[in-house]
Amino acid sequence: MTQRTLVLLKPDAVRRGLVGQIIGRFEAKGLSLVEMQLRTITGEQADQHYAEHVERDFYPPLRAFITSGPLVALVVEGEEAIPVVRTLIGPTDGRQAPAGTIRGDLSLSNRENLVHASDSPESAEREIGIWFPHL
Ligand code: TYD
Ligand code: MG
Repeated sequence: MTQRTLVLLKPDAVRRGLVGQIIGRFEAKGLSLVEMQLRTITGEQADQHYAEHVERDFYPPLRAFITSGPLVALVVEGEEAIPVVRTLIGPTDGRQAPAGTIRGDLSLSNRENLVHASDSPESAEREIGIWFPHL
């Protein structure tokens, strides 16, 4: 089944010059880019995107990080794209993510973990609607 998922290449990915490399992994997998935009978001936009986390202890520094500079928002499409992209990026904490995943190969942090990707069809629909309402 073809799916679309919302992916963010977070400000650490832009700062570290890893955008091309990360997008290349999605392309190499066979996924397609439907939308892509460099954007710097406000705290209010961060709160909307991370609605499920705004009350968590880790949220204030996450909010500061995600608004700290430009990020790349994209919609990625392909067969089972939602779970496939989650598998490619790996578990949240880069220190524990397995080698071979984007976070496992490129991140040493539980916060600055380079990539966000929707975790379910419901969140993909909600997040694509926030970032790219025309889709
Ligand atoms: P979460 O949705 O649990 O992870 P994922 O990005 O893998 O879906 O958390 C959202 C982001 O919040 C996560 O990418 C990094 C940050 N975060 C922290 O900074 N500290 C934490 O303890 C957790 C769980 C997440
Ligand atoms: Mg999540």
